[in-house]
Amino acid sequence: MNNATTLEILVWVVLPYVVLTIFVLGHLWRFRYDRFGWTTRSSQIYESKLLSIGSPLFHYGIIGIFFGHVVGLGIPKSWTEAIGLREEWYHLMAVTIGLAAAAACVGGLLILIYRRRTNSRVFGATTPGDKLMYLVLAATIGFGVLATIAHSALGHYDYREGVSVWFRDFWTFQPNPALMSEAPIFFQLHILSALALFAIWPFTRLVHVFATPLGYLTRPYIVYRSKDEKTSAPRRGWEKIDY
Ligand code: HEM
Repeated sequence: MNNATTLEILVWVVLPYVVLTIFVLGHLWRFRYDRFGWTTRSSQIYESKLLSIGSPLFHYGIIGIFFGHVVGLGIPKSWTEAIGLREEWYHLMAVTIGLAAAAACVGGLLILIYRRRTNSRVFGATTPGDKLMYLVLAATIGFGVLATIAHSALGHYDYREGVSVWFRDFWTFQPNPALMSEAPIFFQLHILSALALFAIWPFTRLVHVFATPLGYLTRPYIVYRSKDEKTSAPRRGWEKIDY
């Protein structure tokens, strides 16, 4: 970190830790003071046709991208080389699977934004916070795709020797800002927009990511049964009225 400028340290060391703090404390605050607002604020009741296409497409895409990031950022290059996975094969796999997931994610997001903008009832249920979140989310995804296409697929930047090393060192409290200031522009923009997304995350509907209803897997069935007249006489005052 010796030769890094103050600006580089502020942007690629201080800012990410500030964002991490906002992310953690923001979620704790939201959970403490707005537990009932911890929801997707679903708009399915207003429109369900486009939602049933856009939402799964977006979510399957983003889940694929999440696992792509876990592998691309979390697993050092030396490990994949040690198990005999050649660089060209890794690269081909990452770009093809990554871009397929990105296509689903972008396609889904476009459908969701189109639906939100064109359906007046859905638009009416959209807050300024939602609009900001959509903008930052779209920027993060857009810059990620641009970085992959321009610098990884068509260019010669090996993010596993730059961005990924910076990312892992962040978690051991020794990030090297030079690795990020030397990264190509779309990678820098991708990570800056991701940081903005993480900073607003706890205050948006994105909190639903941490609300997986795992209890549904183990809870007993709920049996719905209508009461028929043979098994239950109407209670006094609730007798049927024949018109
Ligand atoms: C600090 C956090 C993040 C880092 C360090 C990071 C890093 C990267 C890197 C290195 C790539 C290039 C992969 C390649 O060339 O094969 C990439 C691509 C991408 N990222 Fe991120 N990313 C971050 C957060 C996010 C977030 C929060 C989102 C979405 C909400 C996202 C969405 C994408 C997309 C859509 C792509 C392109 C598709 C792909 O190849 O998988 N990233 N990111």
